[in-house]
Amino acid sequence: MSRIAYVNGRYVPHRQAQVHIEDRGYQFSDGIYEVIAVEGGNLVDEKWHLDRWDRSLGELRIAPPMGRSALMLVAREVLRRNLVRDGIVYMQATRGVAPRDHAFPKRSKSALVMTARRKKGPSALLAEHGAKVITIPDIRWERCDIKAVALLPNVLGKQRAAEAGAFEAWQVDRDGNVTEGTSTNAWIVTAAGELVTRQPAHAILNGVTRLAVIEIARLRQLTVVERAFTVAEAMAAREAFLTSTTSAVMPVVRIDDVAVADGAPGPISRALREAYRAHVAG
Ligand code: PDD
Repeated sequence: MSRIAYVNGRYVPHRQAQVHIEDRGYQFSDGIYEVIAVEGGNLVDEKWHLDRWDRSLGELRIAPPMGRSALMLVAREVLRRNLVRDGIVYMQATRGVAPRDHAFPKRSKSALVMTARRKKGPSALLAEHGAKVITIPDIRWERCDIKAVALLPNVLGKQRAAEAGAFEAWQVDRDGNVTEGTSTNAWIVTAAGELVTRQPAHAILNGVTRLAVIEIARLRQLTVVERAFTVAEAMAAREAFLTSTTSAVMPVVRIDDVAVADGAPGPISRALREAYRAHVAG
């Protein structure tokens, strides 16, 4: 079966899916995106993703290519046409096609593309043993809260991680605090058993998985503190983990060359991974 993509109003074979060379996403990264997990045919935490989609569009003053219910109809159709019941749907909107000029075009129609694919998350084996992260300077812009397609620093950071044999790179701001991973949010568990993850502000993407895990943790009477933490604090933490749509809850057992605690996934990370799995399963 060949894959189908949605491109500006049409469902086309994935191999032939194309956008114009003057799409502003292509020339200026002038666009935003979402990655939503699909489990048993349901879009996981759909409302939170749509809220963030609308927020990203609003912050960049890109006109929504269509309303929320139409968007979800397209998403479900893309899933149906690709026979995806467990996997992810990717959606991207840009300011559209216009002659190249930095300022917003007077007339342009927001462009929308969507794709879906079957589940291909990190292996269960990795979660069992825990992942390694490296630390790198955060060289991104000051609006990382917007889910923009401008991901060059993230791309370079993830490549550094790959070359170091690590799963992720944790980005560190000028004050020595971890902001987040290149495509994941960063967490630690302190000696006192408190969960710490950076507060949602311009320095990080407010991950939907992050929101879900905060809710799950609080329901389990765990204390969640939203604040910055340093690399040194993370290295000395009782546990560390990361969250994202595609990684779920992934224990972190090594930061640069330092083992976190005994170098094995800790009980809180494991329990949250299980609880998050149950949440996703609905
Ligand atoms: N990445 N931080 C960054 C920089 C991200 O790109 C992502 C998501 C997250 C986690 O957000 P969420 O829990 O909503 O997936 C945090 C997606 C999955 C991606 O780029 O593929």
